Amino acid sequence: MKNLTERGKEVLSPVLGRYFADFEVDKGEGCYLFGLDGKKYLDFSSGIAVCVIGHAHPNVVAAAQAQTAKLIHICIGIASYEPYIKLAEELAEIAPFKDAQVFLCQSGSEAVEAAIKLARYSSKKTGLAALRGGFHGRTLGALSLTTSKMKYRDGYEPLVPDVHIVDPDLAKIEQLFKQGGIAGIILEPITGEGGYRVQSKELIQGIRKLCDKYNVLLIADEIQSGFGRTGKWFAIEHFGVIPDIICMAKGIASGFPLGGIMAPAALMAKWSPGSHGGTYGGNPVCCAAAIATIKTIKQEKLIDKAAESGRYLSSKLKELQAAQPKIKEVRGLGLMIGVDFGESNMVKKVINECLANGLVIIPTGADGTVIRFIPPLIVSREEIDKALKIFAQAVSHA
Ligand SMILES: Cc1ncc(COP(=O)(O)O)c(C=O)c1O
Repeated sequence: MKNLTERGKEVLSPVLGRYFADFEVDKGEGCYLFGLDGKKYLDFSSGIAVCVIGHAHPNVVAAAQAQTAKLIHICIGIASYEPYIKLAEELAEIAPFKDAQVFLCQSGSEAVEAAIKLARYSSKKTGLAALRGGFHGRTLGALSLTTSKMKYRDGYEPLVPDVHIVDPDLAKIEQLFKQGGIAGIILEPITGEGGYRVQSKELIQGIRKLCDKYNVLLIADEIQSGFGRTGKWFAIEHFGVIPDIICMAKGIASGFPLGGIMAPAALMAKWSPGSHGGTYGGNPVCCAAAIATIKTIKQEKLIDKAAESGRYLSSKLKELQAAQPKIKEVRGLGLMIGVDFGESNMVKKVINECLANGLVIIPTGADGTVIRFIPPLIVSREEIDKALKIFAQAVSHA
């Protein structure tokens, strides 16, 4: 009988990139995945920074099941329903600015689309800026802002006009803003697909000042770094900077497809009814899962736990680096940690040996030279130690 990998080769588009040749999964629970090979895997990928409270958390399962039995879909354009409104209230409470209002969609890329549409629409300017090396998604608008890997753009040009990719350099950003016509600048406080590089406080604070000076909206892409992963609700909070728009997805709903943006009511007031929208945005079941996720993060104090576990994991990885020159750098915030090998073959060997020994870790960076550690925030000390042991052994063999 053919396995999933073989069946997939026949019916799936080859466009789908894969980190592993034939990893086949049956179910997930907490920090573990259960393979079709009968093996139990410690998951330090969290489905690419999505399952912040672990796989199939009972609170999320119960909330989604109850909502499924009650109302799966109606569309917010047709009727208001409790989960959309309640989630917006919960998000407004954790927003880093006052009077936050919310627009919901289905994915990170769509959240970025919403943010740039709001920026253009509200400012009546067309220019958009993004930092070089950033990743903001794969839809054509979001892709126009993405430069973490040029492969993502190859074959799709021309992209959206009046998009300016700028070096993370304040003088160059000011030069661009000075020319006028820039509606907004988007940035990741810590790059996700771009290799887990933490931006400097000086840069982020400097960009905020330039945005105020030239009347440009600051859009924080928190799609990978949000929902407690870095030890704060949103990574931008580490920088003492308040953005104008926040893009959210991934960790928001424990794996249910949900994205969204938040902005202060004064800015949202400039977005006319009907000028943006969608059929599924803020689906009731996804919203119920998101509400349960946020409640669980609060109840289980997972933001503090992420900060503490991140400090521990990071210090252990730095100890390993001191003993192991193959590791060039360990960097990150909270439980969003990158281990840079400066070389992709070694990374491939390490992640494959880790998988064979029951640990799921995935690469990042323009050339896949960095391994990211993004376990669920519920990860225990014992699980971290177990992962470190498997990782250290794989590094020594690479
Ligand atoms: C920072 C960032 N922005 C946007 C996206 C796009 O999100 P999605 O894959 O849900 O469209 C991602 C996905 O990895 C991301 O990490």
